[in-house]
Amino acid sequence: MKPTIFITRKLPEAVIQPLKEKYEVTMWNRDVQAVPRERLINEAQRADALLTMLSDRIDETLLETARELKVIANMAVGFDNIDLAAASKRGIAVCNTPEVLTDTTADLTFALLLATARRIVEAAEMVKQDKWRGWSPLLLAGQDVHHKTIGIVGMGKIGEAVAKRASGFEMRILYHNRTRKPEVEKQLGACYASFEELVEKADFVVCLTPLTAETRNLFTLEVFQKMKKTAVFINVGRGPVVDEQALYEALETGEIAGAGLDVFASEPIGADHPLLKLTNVVALPHIGSSSIDTRTAMMDLCVKNIDAVLSGRRPPTLVNQDWVTKGIVQ
Ligand code: DGY
Repeated sequence: MKPTIFITRKLPEAVIQPLKEKYEVTMWNRDVQAVPRERLINEAQRADALLTMLSDRIDETLLETARELKVIANMAVGFDNIDLAAASKRGIAVCNTPEVLTDTTADLTFALLLATARRIVEAAEMVKQDKWRGWSPLLLAGQDVHHKTIGIVGMGKIGEAVAKRASGFEMRILYHNRTRKPEVEKQLGACYASFEELVEKADFVVCLTPLTAETRNLFTLEVFQKMKKTAVFINVGRGPVVDEQALYEALETGEIAGAGLDVFASEPIGADHPLLKLTNVVALPHIGSSSIDTRTAMMDLCVKNIDAVLSGRRPPTLVNQDWVTKGIVQ
């Protein structure tokens, strides 16, 4: 019998063809709507491999009945949707898609920063809605980005790529990370700062940190109050890193000047979300890595990860380095 793969969202035929040639592939055939939890649990019970999205919750409950499962290939660099310990203890490899999305996500981060600072969405809407009545000295005047201070919280590969873009704008670069990056400090002139120092000094506070037990609700009201009144907060990491109620309060009361958000505590958000009522918020539907080339590369990498494990090889981008295989990998 061929090993079985379940793919939790509709992916292009061309991408999954290599899997179909060797394995039994079942795919949830919807593009936007996530697979219902019950169906996912059922499919996982007989699957050797899962190709998952960041919106699929792969937890202990699901894993305890997924007796055949050998690999979970998550189509994201983040893997906070997966209970890593529960997978590791069952010998299941967890894979993500780092590197291939670095520049694309950094581009989006910088685009969001620029859009928020220069009020580009508001301005474009004014023209489209036929509300532009003429030039005026301070019409939609925003904040300069060049020569300002950027503070990057979470200096992984994407953080570094954002820092590179910031250096092109001749910005002063501060960063906060679990570990210092002497190479980045040397190459880009980035300065390490404590979290407190960074939030106090940065004009643009850019959150790119992964969601972990330590980073959940990292940005509280107290933190926003420490920022400059002119500060712009950008989040392209994960929504739950921010206390959204606190962010709303900070934006509404003028503690900070604006926010550009690609991620939210619970996604998708609806038009009734309080943050959307604020004109100083630019909101995007979690599209950090969404270019055609990059999303295709991410899918391809998932396919490679699955094929590697099912063929008895170590997958190219394994997350749980403590992975003890079910005895199939050399
Ligand atoms: C990721 O890969 O974790 C990103 O959030 C996707 O856009």
